Amino acid sequence: MDKFVVYGGKPLSGKVRISGAKNAVLPIMAASLLAPGSYRIRNAPHLRDTFTMLEVLRATGVTGEIEDNVLELDTTNCNNPFAPYELVKQMRASFYVLGPLLARFGEARVSLPGGCAWGPRPVDLHIKGMRLLGAEIELDKGYVVAKAKKLKGTLINLDITSVGATGNVMMAAVLADGETVIENAAREPEIVQLARFLKKMGAEIEGEGTGTIRIRGVGSLSPVDVDVIPDRIEAATFLLAGAMIGEGVIVEGLDVDHLTLFLSKLREAGVNFEVKSKSEVVISRPERLRAVNITTAPYPGFPTDMQAQWMAAMSIADGSSVILEEVYKDRFTHVPELIRLGADIVLDNNVAIVRGVKELQGAQVMSTDIRASASLILAGLVARGRTDIYRIYHIERGYERIDEKLRAIGAEIIREEAEVI
Ligand code: EPZ
Repeated sequence: MDKFVVYGGKPLSGKVRISGAKNAVLPIMAASLLAPGSYRIRNAPHLRDTFTMLEVLRATGVTGEIEDNVLELDTTNCNNPFAPYELVKQMRASFYVLGPLLARFGEARVSLPGGCAWGPRPVDLHIKGMRLLGAEIELDKGYVVAKAKKLKGTLINLDITSVGATGNVMMAAVLADGETVIENAAREPEIVQLARFLKKMGAEIEGEGTGTIRIRGVGSLSPVDVDVIPDRIEAATFLLAGAMIGEGVIVEGLDVDHLTLFLSKLREAGVNFEVKSKSEVVISRPERLRAVNITTAPYPGFPTDMQAQWMAAMSIADGSSVILEEVYKDRFTHVPELIRLGADIVLDNNVAIVRGVKELQGAQVMSTDIRASASLILAGLVARGRTDIYRIYHIERGYERIDEKLRAIGAEIIREEAEVI
């Protein structure tokens, strides 16, 4: 297993290009199961999660390769509606194949995802949606076994706004008989892109991006090409690096319209940045960041996937901030690691009080999930001295070549073989 060694204090400047969105490419890959044929998915990020989803698709009979950020899939010979435990346990998003496999084959056997570093992550809303669409669902030895001759459109109210359940149900409903209405639907840009991809395939969908999505089932769909939207969480992570230790970081290839609230929080924190265009922002650190409170919420609220990174920034801010995690109440495995770096954080259930310190000190720390890893890298960039970040396989799930991109703008970050700890 590798680790990153980061020597802090190096100001960042220069251009960094944002990759395609992990959380957009994964549901699009699953949606390719809905219609046999060839798909070209451009701006696809080379990530562990992309490769895992490719393995999940291959297990169903799909052939595919990714090269130079172009993912070619051929789902013609897909004939095995099965997603095995050893793949689904690696990546919860594998569960996205349930809806498309059920819609195309009338049956599916998909492993329940395991939990993750910050606790159980249920799929009850996905299952509720499939049942409401008329599927018979049983749980058998850790697998969801779903059967449905023909799914039937209906009203589905998601008790919790769930990105995954919205995507899964939408993919199941596009080939159902009649109309499906999803109430309390997720509004994330990745869900909007999934809806538009499905519409390009021939699906009839409206309301994507609002809390109510209407789908009228059609007889069949056709394969199409797509350009994956930029990764708003990677973009926000690099913007925060610029806010913490940047002197003219140029973040390119992002979509500022997906970051409205985040950018307003940066302004509140006293960060000076210039929006050169919809896809380019120039950012530098202020004298000292101001402490700013956040509460995470479904889009367009503050993204839970930026909570850990924001906490790293607030660790060196002037004043105290309150971080309220309302999406995953226990998403705080990064807190003890930040404390090892000298952060002053008090945790009470899903509330973290961060008292800004003047300076963090480098130390050995452990990654626990994708975004916690990003938080530790940000902290390492500003900490005095050397920080060793172990178990970096987590970060490679969701950030394409992050060490190369950071080195290119002046960070001193090296990948090293890690002693096993
Ligand atoms: C997606 O996960 C993202 N992953 C996550 O990003 C992100 O944190 C999350 O949405 C919230 O924005 C992908 O898109 C691949 P949810 P998902 O269903 O779909 C509860 C990252 O770092 N819930 O919106 O799994 C759930 O427990 C990852 O890129 C149920 O109760 O999240 C949570 O509290 C981490 N029952 C809330 O809903 C269900 O059936 C939101 O979860 C489903 C979800």
